[in-house]
Amino acid sequence: MAMTDFKTQIAELLSQQVEGLTREEIRAMLEIPPEMSMGDYAFPCFRLAKLMRKAPNQIAKSIAESLGNQALFDKVEPVNAYVNMFLSRSLFMKDVVLAVAETGEDYGRSQVGRGRKVLVEYSSPNIAKPFHIGHIRTTVIGNSIYKIYDFLGYDTVRINHLGDYGTQFGKMIVAYRRWGNREDVQREPIKTLLSYYTKFHEEAEKDPSLDDEARAAFTALENGAEEELALWQWFRDESLKEFSRVYQILGIEFDSFAGESFYSDKMPRVVELLKEKALLQESEGARIVDLTPYGLTAALITKKDGSTLYITRDIAAAIYRKEHYDFYKNLYVVGSQQNLHFQQWIKILELMGFDWAADCVHIGFGMVSLEDGTLSTRQGRVVFLEEVLRRAVEKTREIILEKNVNTDSVDVTARQVGIGAVIFNELSNSRIKDYVFSWDKVLNFDGETGPYVQYTHARAGSVLRNGGQAAEQALAAAGQADTSFLTDDDAYELGRLIYRFPEVILEAAEKYEPSMITRHVVDVAQSFNRFYHNQHILVEDEAEKQARLLLTYAAKQTIKNGLKLLGMEVPERM
Ligand code: ARG
Repeated sequence: MAMTDFKTQIAELLSQQVEGLTREEIRAMLEIPPEMSMGDYAFPCFRLAKLMRKAPNQIAKSIAESLGNQALFDKVEPVNAYVNMFLSRSLFMKDVVLAVAETGEDYGRSQVGRGRKVLVEYSSPNIAKPFHIGHIRTTVIGNSIYKIYDFLGYDTVRINHLGDYGTQFGKMIVAYRRWGNREDVQREPIKTLLSYYTKFHEEAEKDPSLDDEARAAFTALENGAEEELALWQWFRDESLKEFSRVYQILGIEFDSFAGESFYSDKMPRVVELLKEKALLQESEGARIVDLTPYGLTAALITKKDGSTLYITRDIAAAIYRKEHYDFYKNLYVVGSQQNLHFQQWIKILELMGFDWAADCVHIGFGMVSLEDGTLSTRQGRVVFLEEVLRRAVEKTREIILEKNVNTDSVDVTARQVGIGAVIFNELSNSRIKDYVFSWDKVLNFDGETGPYVQYTHARAGSVLRNGGQAAEQALAAAGQADTSFLTDDDAYELGRLIYRFPEVILEAAEKYEPSMITRHVVDVAQSFNRFYHNQHILVEDEAEKQARLLLTYAAKQTIKNGLKLLGMEVPERM
């Protein structure tokens, strides 16, 4: 059952009282008052004065009088030029609890995206480089954006554009041949491969011929030489194994791992197309697209030796994705440090005449730093993401034992809460902001954190379990609920937040902003806790108890659906 669109119903009623305005115009004029004491909706009458040749105050008064006895309202009040409308709380609450009872796991789901393909590219780490704490943002934000679009009925494709190509692989191949060892790579692929890379640079300073050797190895790789290809493939596989461990901990999956190397054979066509459009220029043997007329620096497309670059592969990838998937939207969740890159890239797609360039979106985000200073790969202070996640679980396990948290399995709960805490923290700030990672903030059970919200959800679950049969009956016969027991301010405020949830999901999708859902889930949790503390749920009166249990269920389900959209697990007990 779809929820009632109260705004439209009110507009319909008003249109019978007002001359000269359509229902749609009236609907657009309806305001939501800043405070609950001023009603749920307000209708300003200023514009009507001319049309109806009456003072706005008088118009408000006569509208209020004629609407006053409609069943839709508890009360309608004229205040100056406004008509303040108080919905029938009982009717409203019936609508809300019934909608959640009937849809459950699907509450908030919609089909607005049906038949439209949305590609979400996220995570995309570089092979043989550490998967560090800085990567958490793209990984977690991207996963949530995918879940949101999926929930809205879009046909989604999750893409991991692995950084698995480039001249550094020539260096790694040379280093491995000279100083490498198979067992070391297998045991600790990324750390070992990284050490080869570092060693290569040290040695190449003394012996520049190494650089030529590396270039030759990369060229061989590009030309598909068997031995080089096998080594590269092996480095890639081993690195992916390590990345996969992190994805598994986070519960994140992909539909495609087509990374940069996937486009290596699609580059000549890009160069050809750019030539055809007369966009390519020679510059000291290299080929560039001049973007200075657009306030951007020139983009390097091929180097002197003919090899292609990151941006060339991104152009190829966009064209491939359009041809292969025919996307409605092509989203890139990549840090704001790459703003310039994406500006150049989109400009080039536009200049190439692709009208679908407008459907490609770079979703940027700020940086994460650690309390003890910015993270830096170059200074060797790399903090591996896997270590952070393991530590989150470990610390959570300590808190669980110390607080005597109710759980069937300490291991499972520690994982769900610890990882959930990191994800929730990540999605708490609007994505564009830089933020500082702080353990105290992440794992605080009382603040606006993942553990707090998960705990509230489990508390609602425990109330329902204690309600026993009454809870089951309430759910089975939600249509018969006596929601006149849900008209106090605590219940009503909670109901209003639950009602808004589907709208929040749409807004979050439109703005690519999972934090809007995080925020809303916190609001629901806080509101539920007020309701829980101020109202007795498990009272004697059966009808009263069932009504409150039904609202408890609706709050619990809304929190759960929200947390799942963030990519979190939601324990039933804790
Ligand atoms: N591999 C890159 C990095 O780690 C991110 C790739 C972003 N995606 C893209 N299509 N350029 O910085």
